Amino acid sequence: MFNIHFPREERIWLMIGIATLAIFLVLFGIMAFGMGLQPPGHMMQIEPKAVTATPPFDHPGITQIGDNEYEANIVAQVFMFNPGDITLPVGAKVHFKVTTPDVVHGLYITDTNVNMMAVPGHITEFTYTFRKPGEYLVLCHEYCGIGHQLMMGQIHVQ
Ligand code: CUA
Repeated sequence: MFNIHFPREERIWLMIGIATLAIFLVLFGIMAFGMGLQPPGHMMQIEPKAVTATPPFDHPGITQIGDNEYEANIVAQVFMFNPGDITLPVGAKVHFKVTTPDVVHGLYITDTNVNMMAVPGHITEFTYTFRKPGEYLVLCHEYCGIGHQLMMGQIHVQ
């Protein structure tokens, strides 16, 4: 017969443990299914081998989508950014979309908080408004191979 006797303190701690787990699982369920919170990297996916044939990355570049508002579709690849030379007016609000057909790259823009990862199979998004005129360097900050230190671009805000 299974007539196990738990001391009272042990029963209390067991109940606290079970209750904590139950609360966690309920909250997790509400966040995942009720509020739709998902890992951001899984929102938009792309076949790495088909990047050059998949819009908008079949024509990388800057597209104006509103009043001084732009979409920047950038392909990071060994060892360059496409496009690597971008000119924008002051105050431009830019929605960056970045992907890569080969290996993991970074996309960091100096003097801004733009700090993105380009991961094969994924499209990374970030929005930034260029309020100050100047020359901004675009740097790959993820070691991606023998030409990593040559992988850079420029943004001219004028
Ligand atoms: Cu691309 Cu380092």
